[in-house]
Amino acid sequence: MIYKCDGIVIDNEPLIKDFIYLMKIKETKIAEYAKPGQFLEIKTGTLPLLRKPISIFAVDKVEGTISILYQVKGQGTKNLSQFKIGQSIDLMGPLGNGFAVEKFNKKCLLIGGGIGVAPLYDLGLRLKEVGNEVEFILGFSSKETSYAIEYFKELGPVKIATIDGSVGVKGTVGAILEDYDLTDISKAYGCGPEPMLKYLKTIEDEVDLELSLEAYMGCGLGACLSCVCKMNDGDYKRVCKEGPVFKAKEVSFDE
Ligand SMILES: Cc1cc2nc3c(=O)[nH]c(=O)nc-3n(C[C@H](O)[C@H](O)[C@H](O)COP(=O)(O)OP(=O)(O)OC[C@H]3O[C@@H](n4cnc5c(N)ncnc54)[C@H](O)[C@@H]3O)c2cc1C
Ligand code: FES
Repeated sequence: MIYKCDGIVIDNEPLIKDFIYLMKIKETKIAEYAKPGQFLEIKTGTLPLLRKPISIFAVDKVEGTISILYQVKGQGTKNLSQFKIGQSIDLMGPLGNGFAVEKFNKKCLLIGGGIGVAPLYDLGLRLKEVGNEVEFILGFSSKETSYAIEYFKELGPVKIATIDGSVGVKGTVGAILEDYDLTDISKAYGCGPEPMLKYLKTIEDEVDLELSLEAYMGCGLGACLSCVCKMNDGDYKRVCKEGPVFKAKEVSFDE
């Protein structure tokens, strides 16, 4: 079920001022039905006209709240950063398919790059709830632009990579994965920029891997086709409707 509703902003704190924010919203219906990896389409103001797709970072079904972690990029996300506590916010969701959550024999590895870490917190929480052990590999550009790591540490071991090496291993998440023993992993999940997802496809034969894709979205509801991405069999699928999560082996990043 998809709801269009007005949530109430309970909190909207900068984790890094003018860059990364964590917003908590009271919205019981979306909180009740949201699954990890799903997203919201948010009307952030009169302009931009289009709603903005933002992943669900955390859900508290008892409290009836959802949280989003977002990066200020353009007008829409700047508008979000200016929402005040108590203000109503126009939401549509939960949208998309979400990640597969079940009890696996071995550990789960969750790999995120930049703001792509956002859907992995709720995913980690739900995987743990059904009895899995979870580990994270998170990539950022530098120590100054890394965030939310303490949330992931609540759930399991976290390895960090930064491009400038100011914290963790120097390089991308690939620098950690090169030496990682994947035989201990039943299931891996990835979300991040396209170069990272392309890299992750190099491990798709070693581990069962799901990727959450990003795309420019119009309607967010499957109607406008602005979000289509190419599949390995030559077909195209809508990231907003059939995705955003796909089996790594299904997707193709070839032009
Ligand atoms: C399924 C999905 C889930 C997402 N989850 C989150 C999330 O949890 N947190 C978060 O901060 N962002 C998330 N995004 C990205 C977010 O939707 C965009 O950053 C946002 O729409 C930018 O809007 P804006 O008006 O602020 O900037 P715009 O003015 O629209 O864009 C600013 C800059 O960002 C680039 N940009 C905008 N959208 C995208 C995109 N989809 N992919 C690549 N580059 C883009 C533009 O080219 C431009 O250079 C998600 C996107 C998708 C498709
Ligand atoms: S955003 Fe319109 S079909 Fe996906």
